[in-house]
Amino acid sequence: MRAAVLTAYGVPTFGTFPDPEPTDGFATIAVKAAGLNPIDLAIAAGKIAARMPQLPSVAGSEGVGLMDDGARVYFNGCKAPYGAMAERTLVTPARTLPVPDGISDGVAVALGIAGLTAWLSLSWRARLVPGEHVLILGASGAVGLLAVQAARLLGAGRVIAAARSAEGLERARAAGAHATVVLEGSESDIADAIRAQSGNRLDVIIDPLWGVPAATALQVASAGARLVQLGSSAGGQMPFNPAFMRGPQISLLGFSSGTVPQPEKAAAYAAMCAAVLRGDMAIPVESLPLAKVADAWQRQADFPHHKLVLEP
Ligand SMILES: NC(=O)c1ccc[n+]([C@@H]2O[C@H](COP(=O)([O-])OP(=O)(O)OC[C@H]3O[C@@H](n4cnc5c(N)ncnc54)[C@H](OP(=O)(O)O)[C@@H]3O)[C@@H](O)[C@H]2O)c1
Repeated sequence: MRAAVLTAYGVPTFGTFPDPEPTDGFATIAVKAAGLNPIDLAIAAGKIAARMPQLPSVAGSEGVGLMDDGARVYFNGCKAPYGAMAERTLVTPARTLPVPDGISDGVAVALGIAGLTAWLSLSWRARLVPGEHVLILGASGAVGLLAVQAARLLGAGRVIAAARSAEGLERARAAGAHATVVLEGSESDIADAIRAQSGNRLDVIIDPLWGVPAATALQVASAGARLVQLGSSAGGQMPFNPAFMRGPQISLLGFSSGTVPQPEKAAAYAAMCAAVLRGDMAIPVESLPLAKVADAWQRQADFPHHKLVLEP
């Protein structure tokens, strides 16, 4: 079958791979679209010790496909050495999520790793209370743009989108952000802008960036605020004096969508699908043929500001 094959740590190449056979607990699925995520780049590069890929193997963590009975489902976590970026792969049926009619394959993929992270980091991890003020860092990215919309749908009183890209902030505002902050200038410029745009109240910070943006946001957060840590696109280090966090009892919460219980994921995915069908949630998606996997890899590394999916 056609596949994006990893033969050495780095970038997969378009080629062929043996077809998967169903085995105990795993079923074959015909892939319609596979998502590209920062984590796919990191895994393929051999940068995640707990998730070193077999060589050779098929790349890709998530996708949408058709089960043998014709059901269209979202899947995640294929059985190695099979991955999502191929004509067929192996999935655990109990971990698939139904995709309703009316939702494109690409959007159904975007609601997976990116969407579940956006929604569950707010609802399940931060325990967002309606009316709270929420800052979304990295709002120009897939997770950030979906988090802006999830925060509105979950009842946030004020949603502030922050990113470097002016165009990305424009999209976040169109998607429902009440205010925006450009992540440029000195730390005190950024802190002043967050204070002003949040109305001096900041309860939840969704953080796919870490580094200076997260450190700055934490220091202007309100008493009882929670920062949900998703990723470190702005760097792995955050040197700061933590004394300010103690009195106001500010919390740092780690989050990985992979560890959330399946019923919570299923409910969140269904809620997002319903929002898309109502016209309350959207994400731009670009579909590329699987043969363009190397180009797609480079574009994801350069932050595409929309969701990239590969179609076998
Ligand atoms: N924990 C989890 O379960 C989980 C799940 C999904 C994703 N993540 C993580 O969340 C992050 C975002 O994922 P994504 O799918 O949204 O990726 P994405 O679509 O590529 O977006 C990443 C965004 O990061 C911003 N960015 C990159 N470098 C930056 C820097 N130095 N300073 C400030 N902003 C920077 C870019 O915005 P600008 O171009 O506007 O700067 C870009 O839009 C990644 O680190 C990913 O690994 C974690």
